[in-house]
Amino acid sequence: GEAGRLKGRRAIVTSGPTHEPIDPVRYLANRSSGKQGHAIAAALSASGAQTTLISGPTRLADPLGVEVVHVQTAAQMAAAVEAALPADVAVLAAAVADWRVRPAVEKIKKDAGHAPPELVLEENPDILAALAQKTTGRPTLVVGFAAETRNVIENARAKRARKGCDWIVANDVSEATGVFGGDDNTVHLIRADGVETWATMRKRRIAERLAERIADALNHTPKH
Ligand code: PMT
Repeated sequence: GEAGRLKGRRAIVTSGPTHEPIDPVRYLANRSSGKQGHAIAAALSASGAQTTLISGPTRLADPLGVEVVHVQTAAQMAAAVEAALPADVAVLAAAVADWRVRPAVEKIKKDAGHAPPELVLEENPDILAALAQKTTGRPTLVVGFAAETRNVIENARAKRARKGCDWIVANDVSEATGVFGGDDNTVHLIRADGVETWATMRKRRIAERLAERIADALNHTPKH
């Protein structure tokens, strides 16, 4: 991307999975590697934005020049996003667990003759919906992701409307696509006025192109 187009702008990016503890040694998680979200944080920073990356547990290095806040759970991610405001743009690429477990304080023992424990799930806060529906301090541009395995565009459109964000980047995370953990992705950029389908490309290139679209959209808007 063209260097400096986001100079003076503040960006928040979420990336990676969340880990929801079951007990002190076990957790619920998902297959996100953080590659897509980290690439977006790096691209926004390279375009000049002061960028805070809020990352769940990944094996990736912190992108250079980006302030990184490391979290484990959805609740911690929600608090870190709130603490990182104000921002001109927020891109929520993390695969946040929809549910958490009410964790046991001690390790759950596998007692001979006992039935397996039952996990009771509670709903996690929806970070994207909360941010997009803020009445004060909402970022100028709120961009969500939609990870779908069928009816990708249709489901993502509905998700954009339901959550109240400006844009949704939709991707197909069916196992055969290799999107979770891979270096390539195929995305659709869904805005109020239509859908742009991008050719399959490196996650890094998707991040650069998204940063360009963000710079175009923020052009002439007041800075936070
Ligand atoms: O990390 P990689 O291996 O590179 O893979 C990239 C990716 C597939 C994880 C990424 O491109 C992606 O799709 N991220 C969103 C994953 C997801 O959880 O999607 P969703 O459709 O379940 O959620 C919709 C949106 O709401 C997302 O912006 C998500 O961050 C947000 N959300 C979801 C639940 C929740 N409790 N809070 C949220 O903010």
